[in-house]
Amino acid sequence: MPARETIVLKQRVKQAAPLDLAAYKASGGLAGLRKALAMNPADVVEELKRSGLTGRGGAAFLTGTKLEFVGRQTSRPKYLICNADEGEPGTGKDRLLLEKDPWAVLEGMLIAAYAVGAEQGYIYFQGEYRTAFALWEQLADVAERNHLLGERILDSPFSFGLQIVRGRGLYICGEELALIASLEMQRPTSRPKPPYPAQNGLFGQPTSINNVETLANLPVIMAGGAQAWRQLGTPEEPGTRLFTLSGDIRRPGIYELAMGSATLRELIDDLGGGTSDKRPLKAVQPGGGSSALLGAKMLDLPLTARAIREAGSSMGTGAVIVYAASRNAREIVGGLLGFYGEESCGRCMPCRLGVLRMREIVRNLNAGQGTKDDVKRLEEIGRSCLAASTCGMGQSFPLPILSALRLFPGDFAVEARGKKARTRMAGARP
Ligand SMILES: Cc1cc2nc3c(=O)[nH]c(=O)nc-3n(C[C@H](O)[C@H](O)[C@H](O)COP(=O)(O)O)c2cc1C
Repeated sequence: MPARETIVLKQRVKQAAPLDLAAYKASGGLAGLRKALAMNPADVVEELKRSGLTGRGGAAFLTGTKLEFVGRQTSRPKYLICNADEGEPGTGKDRLLLEKDPWAVLEGMLIAAYAVGAEQGYIYFQGEYRTAFALWEQLADVAERNHLLGERILDSPFSFGLQIVRGRGLYICGEELALIASLEMQRPTSRPKPPYPAQNGLFGQPTSINNVETLANLPVIMAGGAQAWRQLGTPEEPGTRLFTLSGDIRRPGIYELAMGSATLRELIDDLGGGTSDKRPLKAVQPGGGSSALLGAKMLDLPLTARAIREAGSSMGTGAVIVYAASRNAREIVGGLLGFYGEESCGRCMPCRLGVLRMREIVRNLNAGQGTKDDVKRLEEIGRSCLAASTCGMGQSFPLPILSALRLFPGDFAVEARGKKARTRMAGARP
């Protein structure tokens, strides 16, 4: 049987008028929020913990546990931030929800805010998401008129204000601490953790920061109950996930699958129609541009975070990038470094210098000017970045390069060259 989608989060994405609140209610919208508001906030947290939902922004931390940490903090005010910065190469699932089912995301924010006791929220949009940003400005007006923002939400004692923020268009702003710094009008950089945002977040106050897709699951969990929601997926990784399929694929798109219900091969072949040239593929990045490459032999892995982690990569944001057999691994990593090379926040040295040096080496290799030492150095710098960087950017962007060196050493083979070429390379080094 070919793999099929399990539609939960995508149930409304084909609707013509995403701002139509009456249509949202008619399709079951707000049932989860109404149920939550009738409960004690701590019981809402318990229900979310029972669901086993993990964050969909990359790190896969347990959402209920995160909300519990924030809920337990006594300091006021508390904040809830929806991370809509979505900058990872290959990812587009949050944009789909933001543009096509915005009420579900807002409802998820309200449930989370109520659960932790946050009276103020922010949604931080990727700078390029202009359509989504404009739509949400309208949505906020409709929400205020319908008691979904402001004082006494749906006539309950709960009040919640929302600020809609257009981000700076920097990849690092998706990292939670850099995002918080950006909201505080500071230079967006990360810092070592702890303290975590749950204790010391926006303006030093307890803050829950959650991904768009994570939040969009909350209304479903609350409306039907955690037990029913857990019926989808695996016991360890319940629910569905949105996979953004891109690269050398015949039918790129955003596919929703129950966790573990299909293999990587089934996602690519059954749903994506196989590679664009119909030939066997070369490699896949299963979790976005900063995830390690998996070779063609690994395609029969079930799509669970655990299986992908055990195979040496990560599910990250669920962005599956397919590379055809005709690709050269050196050029693949050159493209990725072309992106990451512009995006280090510059705060910590291994990432700031490492990404530039690695980009330079790969550029030289692609120009036919590298030496064997350069290939060795690429590996050394990559390992140093992983070990010594402060945040997830430096701890992950070298992974595709290191995996490419291991899986496709032939693509990095350096031919013996005349003295002149080597001298020029040596001269170019700082
Ligand atoms: C460099 C970098 C970029 C990130 N970008 C995003 C992003 O665009 N959206 C997102 O939700 N999380 C992003 N994250 C993860 C966030 O730091 C944070 O873990 C996440 O928003 C928490 O939400 P979740 O628990 O719902 O996954 C990024 C992390 C790093 C290190």
